[in-house]
Amino acid sequence: MKIALMGAMPEEIEPIVSKLSNVTITNYGANKYYEGSYNGKEVVVAYSKIGKVFATLTATILIEKFGCDKLLFSGVAGAISSDLNIGDLIIADGLCQHDLDITAFGHPFGFVPEGEVCISTDVTLRETAKAVAKAKGITLKEGIIATGDQFVANADRKNWIESTFKADALEMEGASVAVVCNALDIPFFVLRAISDSADMDAGFDFEAFLESSAKVSADFILSMVDAIER
Ligand code: ADE
Repeated sequence: MKIALMGAMPEEIEPIVSKLSNVTITNYGANKYYEGSYNGKEVVVAYSKIGKVFATLTATILIEKFGCDKLLFSGVAGAISSDLNIGDLIIADGLCQHDLDITAFGHPFGFVPEGEVCISTDVTLRETAKAVAKAKGITLKEGIIATGDQFVANADRKNWIESTFKADALEMEGASVAVVCNALDIPFFVLRAISDSADMDAGFDFEAFLESSAKVSADFILSMVDAIER
């Protein structure tokens, strides 16, 4: 078993890479991949850079070049649900692309032929996350995460994403990982800690809370690696 641990930004993977043993770094596809072990489990860690295209590239490389057979994504998100406050954790049960629009041809938002609006994450990894959260006494929200190539800092856009996709949080990479892993039949999991509320204060809050929320998510992901059965 080789587990891919992916983020989008350096802040999202640094708390993971700093805990690995026997790290080797490979430069590939204009990016760095950190191979190492965590408490005896083989992992490959990378941040993709922001957005759907870079995330698609990195997820594909983690699977096709490095041979990872599970992928866990860790990072931050903007809250949609009013239940979610800064630093809270949400796991995706499904992911959709809020900026995918061929409605001109009569399709729903987020849908293209032969695709699906919402791609589900692996049930076993979700159960593992819930067991880890219970053992640590952490509250974990589960819901839909909406992905798009937009930093959302606007209440109207956020409300539209909520009503259109029933989404609880939004970010810029998760659905790309979902498309890749779904196509390649790799069990995957997406965890996000809230950095902002996707409203007019989002830019300010994101800068203030990126590092602390990214660490909350990364620490939880490492506990998941420990809990995953070999
Ligand atoms: N990731 C964290 N906050 C976000 C926001 N407001 N929009 C898009 N991605 C985010």
